[in-house]
Amino acid sequence: MILRYLGHSAFQIVCSSGISIIIDPFLDNNPLAPLKSKDLEADYILLSHAHGDHCGDTLKIADKGKTTIVAVSELASYFAKSGYHTHALQIGGAHQFSFGNVRLIKAEHGSMTPDGRYGGLAAGFILNIEGTCICHAGDTGIFGDIRMYGELHEIDYYLVPIGGNYTMDIQDAALATSWINAKYAIPMHYNTFPLVKADPYEFQRAVQAYGKQAIVLAPGEDLSL
Ligand code: NI
Ligand code: MN
Repeated sequence: MILRYLGHSAFQIVCSSGISIIIDPFLDNNPLAPLKSKDLEADYILLSHAHGDHCGDTLKIADKGKTTIVAVSELASYFAKSGYHTHALQIGGAHQFSFGNVRLIKAEHGSMTPDGRYGGLAAGFILNIEGTCICHAGDTGIFGDIRMYGELHEIDYYLVPIGGNYTMDIQDAALATSWINAKYAIPMHYNTFPLVKADPYEFQRAVQAYGKQAIVLAPGEDLSL
């Protein structure tokens, strides 16, 4: 299985079976993203919330015959109305897909579609795939239940926003990493635009102060899991 960072909060997971899962594809309007929508195919697209820097290129990548869009009910129905195949979840709920288990978790954030419709609650994901547990936090501020998710799941990789302003900053994200008790944190949602400027190596040091480890991935970089 490969975990590929696509820049901002976008990741691709390529399972051993070849199944391609893309989370929060924001590529064509992100100058830091080396791979663009035309380069990618997805069996599943997982969307944490409806903001443009997360739904991004979903409509360009999703294939109506092949792709399932997984999101909170309100956002899933937004895509279902346009003829896309979707799977709706709600916060706390989980579903066993062919590739593994997906649980929707809480995120402290807003969610409105690019055309101004209510997008449901913002969310994150806990994924159990091929024996590896990955938590994608979505866009979120810090909140105490992050600790609870660490009790419920043995998280191997915590994909966590560090850019501040709209989400946790470096210090919050380092504390959240210790609360969720992840083996490794991977920083995201930074340096894409000036308001979310942050040094991922400063985050790495902040995480080390809690006895934890962070892996900094450059956009386009792969991690073999
Ligand atoms: Ni957002
Ligand atoms: Mn965002």
